[in-house]
Amino acid sequence: MLNKKTVRDIEVKNKKVLLRVDFNVPLDRETKSIITSDKRIVESLKTIEYLISAGAKVILCSHIGKTGQNISLRPVAVHLSELLQKNIMFLNDCIGHEVKEAVSNMKSSDVILLENLRNHIEEENNDENFAKELASLAQIFVNDAFGTVHRAHASTEGITKFLPSVCGFLIEKEIKALDQAINNPVRPLVAIIGGAKVSSKIAVLTNLIDKVDTILIGGAMAYTFQKSLGHKVGQSLVENDKLEVATQIMQKAFDSGVEFILPIDNIVSNEISENAIVQTALATDIPEDLMGVDIGEKTIELFKNEILTAGTVVWNGPVGVFEIEKFANGTRQIALALADSNAITIIGGGDSAAAVEKFGVADKMTHISTGGGASLEFMEGKKLPGIEALEDK
Ligand code: 3PG
Repeated sequence: MLNKKTVRDIEVKNKKVLLRVDFNVPLDRETKSIITSDKRIVESLKTIEYLISAGAKVILCSHIGKTGQNISLRPVAVHLSELLQKNIMFLNDCIGHEVKEAVSNMKSSDVILLENLRNHIEEENNDENFAKELASLAQIFVNDAFGTVHRAHASTEGITKFLPSVCGFLIEKEIKALDQAINNPVRPLVAIIGGAKVSSKIAVLTNLIDKVDTILIGGAMAYTFQKSLGHKVGQSLVENDKLEVATQIMQKAFDSGVEFILPIDNIVSNEISENAIVQTALATDIPEDLMGVDIGEKTIELFKNEILTAGTVVWNGPVGVFEIEKFANGTRQIALALADSNAITIIGGGDSAAAVEKFGVADKMTHISTGGGASLEFMEGKKLPGIEALEDK
């Protein structure tokens, strides 16, 4: 349950509102000016439109890319302007004299987009003076950057010390969907956890064991579990320093009565490339010179049966190297099975969100999170600093 004030709980008319959004959208590699997925922008529209119609002076801020990359948000301003059918003023910085001047000339329902917050190292350092500078632009702070709520940065956490701070509709929607799926699910609750490394999923697996009925494991992390059971994994990616923790996770699942299902067969290959030669192997007996790259047909059937009888499915991490067509079938079949199922389907951000998009079934999912790291940390049961810092109801 989200017990935080939202934009509905405050008066914004004629007020300067600093709205933190997550416009960290992918741009094309060459020109860095074409937005290749605008999902995050589209998901922010509800709060922006609400503030415009409520007569606020809307000052948008976001990061894009990493600190030091100095990527510009200008293409976002152009696209946002088209989506809103409204002129958006884009400023070349997020603090400083010119920004103050532009903000002081704003009229009710005007929208300004500030330049990339991460052009200043102080953002990531949660620098108090930088947070104060940002705060000085507005009278109210609204955080709707769900993708960034796991970061305690100046624009997500520091700033809340200086302004009344509430959340927007996207954060509200994300928390409602994730919270219900994990803490009050329609059962059986099935988690599909994939991805390359066990190390990045230890916390989520440990937390989910107390919540779910079944865990399906895919992706390269499965080979660490297989090896810890003494099975032959050939050249597959294994984290040898995580074998013990893999055993502990399986033991915990067993003790809690949670079904912990590993693949029974794998697509294996000699190399990770479009030209690779593939074959199927038993997941417990991958040939010495080959590596697992996807789940096999029998595993797909096994996983599909779990999905089709589930009340809720939470998916985080692809089950194979789906960027390469020859290794994409497992992830594709999981996405299609989710689309066919009557279960509530919750897709963690990042790669799993990219997979349902790629296989054309995004509109069939109950909820696709806009936050990869943020949704993962939520499922780990961690407190999210960007949400904790907001005012309680
Ligand atoms: C994301 O892309 O997950 C968010 O925008 C957060 O970005 P970060 O991982 O660079 O902090």
